[in-house]
Amino acid sequence: MSIALLYERSENDENGIKLTAQQLGIDLTFLPFRKIALSISKDGFSAKTKGKDYTNIIKNIAVVLNRAQSKNRRLQASYIMEMLGKKTLNSSQIEFVCYSKLRTLLHLWKEGIPIPKTVYVPCDSTDTMKNGQEIHNEKDIAELFQQEIPLSEGIVIKADAGTHGKMIMLAKNHEELIANIHETKPSIINLVGVVAQELVKKWFYDLRIIVSKEKGKQPVCYHIAMARAGFKDFRTNTFLGNLVFGAKLPLSIQELAVKCAKSLGKGSEAWILALDAMVNVKENKTVDDAYLKAELDKAAQAFLPVQKVKQDETRLTDFPAWNSKLETAFQGYVNTKHYENIKKIIEESVEKNKSALVFHESNSCPEFWENTRLATGLNVAVPLLKCAQSLIDH
Ligand SMILES: Nc1ncnc2c1ncn2[C@@H]1O[C@H](COP(=O)(O)OP(=O)(O)OP(=O)(O)O)[C@@H](O)[C@H]1O
Ligand SMILES: [Mg+2]
Repeated sequence: MSIALLYERSENDENGIKLTAQQLGIDLTFLPFRKIALSISKDGFSAKTKGKDYTNIIKNIAVVLNRAQSKNRRLQASYIMEMLGKKTLNSSQIEFVCYSKLRTLLHLWKEGIPIPKTVYVPCDSTDTMKNGQEIHNEKDIAELFQQEIPLSEGIVIKADAGTHGKMIMLAKNHEELIANIHETKPSIINLVGVVAQELVKKWFYDLRIIVSKEKGKQPVCYHIAMARAGFKDFRTNTFLGNLVFGAKLPLSIQELAVKCAKSLGKGSEAWILALDAMVNVKENKTVDDAYLKAELDKAAQAFLPVQKVKQDETRLTDFPAWNSKLETAFQGYVNTKHYENIKKIIEESVEKNKSALVFHESNSCPEFWENTRLATGLNVAVPLLKCAQSLIDH
């Protein structure tokens, strides 16, 4: 019985998983999920692309590593594979919870994990009547939010499902709030309603923390988080051009992260999650912003060679060689004193404000090869493959 890598398109993360599996001597089977037609009938099931029959291949699979990128397709994939008798990483139950920021927050809240105050209104910003007339609900929704969160402190409107900072909007006055609510529209991934959140007064960084659980073992939190940092935008996503740093985590945060992940993984034997957390630093800053901005600018200069390698198309033709170039470039960035300075500032700030941490999102299929792995030293493919192996019944 084998482990399958289910994917839509083979990107760096998938190539990284393949490379890691080779290094660990683990055989992987590949499932190009998007192209396989699944057929079910009284005779059983079949699974075929236009050119290849995957039926027996799937029968011989024990565990599926689900790397489908679209949230809907990933949820569908886990569910189908479970119905075909496979173990999945992550399970459809976990995919269902992590799909939605609101569902994730409900689970964390129920376990008493600190979260940003969040308000959900199931109504959409605009309703279209049968005769085509539009009814605008923005004002009513804004009032409901303002009853709970003072607008003067900032209100974050966010798409319930989404990534890369898309549709995450900050309002500080009434016009902005109405405009942001108006921007939210039901879509194929965001089906109903609007989510608002208090603005967490983080400083210039947030944290991504990896927690994993192998079957039969206790969950473990990796002791170094990836900090995404920059002053460009209140959103610190790397997709928006922010920098990444490794940051050692205080023990109390590691323990809280385990509790957080456990509340999401409940009911599944093995899982791996990337938790997003913010530190409510407020005015408790250790250095002044002007110094920090100058250091970040210099670090950004040192990061340019990394960005250049990332754009290098040889990753498609010779992944191992491209990866060596990427690692060398990243090491050059890490070796600068600006990187070291900022990393220290983040670590001190986290230590000083460790009781002001809130968790706001969990990623069930995180990107890791280009940033998380290099910044933290944890190749997420390793725990991923170990979790998969733990699910194979011997
Ligand atoms: N309530 C908040 N207060 C302050 N900043 C926030 C808040 N919510 C989100 N942010 C900022 O916006 C960024 C993106 O938000 P979030 O992580 O919720 O969504 P995302 O872009 O879908 O996530 P990802 O790409 O990390 O999967 C966060 O990393 C954080 O920097
Ligand atoms: Mg996030």
